[in-house]
Amino acid sequence: MSSLVTFNQILPQARNDLRSVGAFNAANLETVLSIFRAAVRENSPVIIQVYQRLFNDERASLIAAMTERLAAEADIPIALHLDHGESLDQIRKAIALGYTSVMFDGSKYPLEKNIALTAEAATIAHDAGVTIEGEIGHVPFGDGLPELSSASEAVEFIEKTGVDVLAVSVGTAHGFYKCEPVLDIKRLREISQCVSQPLVLHGGTGVSVDQLRAAIGCGVAKINIATELQSFFLCGVAAEIKKNGEAFKPVDLYFKPVEEKLTDYIATKIRSFS
Ligand code: 13P
Repeated sequence: MSSLVTFNQILPQARNDLRSVGAFNAANLETVLSIFRAAVRENSPVIIQVYQRLFNDERASLIAAMTERLAAEADIPIALHLDHGESLDQIRKAIALGYTSVMFDGSKYPLEKNIALTAEAATIAHDAGVTIEGEIGHVPFGDGLPELSSASEAVEFIEKTGVDVLAVSVGTAHGFYKCEPVLDIKRLREISQCVSQPLVLHGGTGVSVDQLRAAIGCGVAKINIATELQSFFLCGVAAEIKKNGEAFKPVDLYFKPVEEKLTDYIATKIRSFS
């Protein structure tokens, strides 16, 4: 029997062991269940993360309740994380809902403002016994331009904010790529030589296992996957609907085979990160 864990209970060890914990974005019951079952099958720690938009209604709190219930009966460490938190209020809300880790994403601001806001968020999180992720540089969404992170910024950011884990920008972007990006492994190695905290790679969708393994070798202990997972789920449901034609089928029966395939997909990812 266990309960939810913070990042500090799983990620420093992962960095030491040169492995990465998969951080998968969940948005509904079926995606939570698939992530959970895949991690149990692989006997692996896992991070269930929830995009900040889902905090605008009951979804984030319902996902928290589901995840807490599943974690209570599992023997694997599970962290529940707010992904891309954009305000201090959202950080407070996630903590109140039982999230064990939060991200404050100040990467759209100049470094100084990012540091000031993230430091405030870190105090709120640490006072509540929750871990915090910050981001330097900027991992863009879609076709936006990346702003790569540097080792000197990483050192300054960690010293001044006290974040537990650091998301860095080394060539990835959120969403599907037109062609696979080439990660700046040299830059990542320089950063990892200067900071001992676990590093985070956003934009894991569409990056080859070889490149991800090279990143893990340079201190990346958390890899985020959202687009690929959600697209896998949606395409699976669309295929089931097409297969079934016009006849009525209850929603849970539509989702069941998709959940099973999604669980296999997530288990393969978890295995490749460790
Ligand atoms: P992708 O959607 O590209 O997989 O990125 C996920 C992510 O970084 C979530 O924060």
